Amino acid sequence: MDLSSSVMATISAENIETSSVYMMKEWQKLAGGLHRVLCMQGGDDDVSYAKNSQAPASAITLCKPLLFTAIQSMNLFFKSKEDADSLRIADLGCATGYNTLATIDMVVESLSNRYLKECGFEPEFEVFFSDLPSNDFNSLFQSLTAMFSDNKKNKYYAAGVPGSFYHRLFPKGKLHIAVSLSALHWLSRIPDEVLDKKSPAWNKGRAWIEGANKEVVKAYAKQSEKDLEDFLRCRKEEIARGGMLFILMGGRPGSQPRENQLGDPDSRAKHPFTTSMDEAWRDLLNEGLIDEETRDMFNIPAYMRSIEEVEIAMKRCGGFEIRRMEYKRIVEHSEEKQEEWIRDPVSYGRAKANLVRATLRPIVQAHIGPYLSDQLFNRFQTRVSSDINLLQKTCFYGVIVVCAVRI
Ligand SMILES: C[S@@+](CC[C@H](N)C(=O)[O-])C[C@H]1O[C@@H](n2cnc3c(N)ncnc32)[C@H](O)[C@@H]1O
Repeated sequence: MDLSSSVMATISAENIETSSVYMMKEWQKLAGGLHRVLCMQGGDDDVSYAKNSQAPASAITLCKPLLFTAIQSMNLFFKSKEDADSLRIADLGCATGYNTLATIDMVVESLSNRYLKECGFEPEFEVFFSDLPSNDFNSLFQSLTAMFSDNKKNKYYAAGVPGSFYHRLFPKGKLHIAVSLSALHWLSRIPDEVLDKKSPAWNKGRAWIEGANKEVVKAYAKQSEKDLEDFLRCRKEEIARGGMLFILMGGRPGSQPRENQLGDPDSRAKHPFTTSMDEAWRDLLNEGLIDEETRDMFNIPAYMRSIEEVEIAMKRCGGFEIRRMEYKRIVEHSEEKQEEWIRDPVSYGRAKANLVRATLRPIVQAHIGPYLSDQLFNRFQTRVSSDINLLQKTCFYGVIVVCAVRI
């Protein structure tokens, strides 16, 4: 996926191939800020999100029974064919690839079956695939068209809705179901203090907040609190009474303080945003490819909330009744995969580097340009494949699932 052309133009003007870069602090100030550049890697090659979304896919598989149960118990809006309008479903932060299409398929099919069984007809469905404008909507709609062309009749009418889910995206009371899968842990911006050398919250030498000092974590937590409340207030307007909000997002267990974002030490050591990422940035610095400021100004805009933090935001916003809220732990990959990778650490390094390319390349490129970005991911790959101890550890991802009804 190409970056927003105006940001790229500014970056080229700054000469991306040298250490004179267009830094995060600067592009955050542009209209749209982070949302102009944040997205998953588009297309369908080896480094695309479509080919590197197994962890979110596992999260969805684990939480599917909760979504299915929620659909079975939700309000049916139309009792007869005569008074039926279309049923409107949105996926917020849909990205590209199989996860969004499979989830929407399951939601439409489950609701369709319920209508047929309980009301004797099937309503029409409208599905809104929503993500930031930088998302590769072309790839998404190509996959959708390929899926539809197998059947004579489309199961639903599809539309793309570009925009941030931290803002209003739909008219009042428009939606019957909104889902958001593995997306809400992405923040709307990097807190300014974290990029400010003079602030106690300056996040020196780290790409993310896990294990950072208290002030850094506090700044991230404050941003997360504001973002979640903005998200909920917008959905409160957009979802019709009786409609459903289903969220699956990266999260941490309630027992863990916020500075311990990943729950256990093995996950912390192995997570793609932590040790190897910091080492890869340090490699670029030590090789003289970037200066210290460039390294320090890169921060990953993500925060893992606890159930308690989500509950507080839901309470403050009002308008929703929580039906289910759970923390779940996902194993990074299967035992067979781990054994295969222990036999071939280079392929492990490649797989992990592809994963971080798929998720972070657009924002890394906006920060240091395409050449240095490739250098960074190559260093990351080397670091990961050379640490056999890390490979032996099992890493977990935490997610929080929320199912709420608009009251
Ligand atoms: C890890 S992907 C998950 C994609 C998909 N839901 C899945 O489960 O595979 C996260 C997605 O959230 C999107 N995203 C992040 N912040 C967003 C925002 N403020 N508004 C809309 N989408 C956002 C990203 O662009 C990305 O496509």
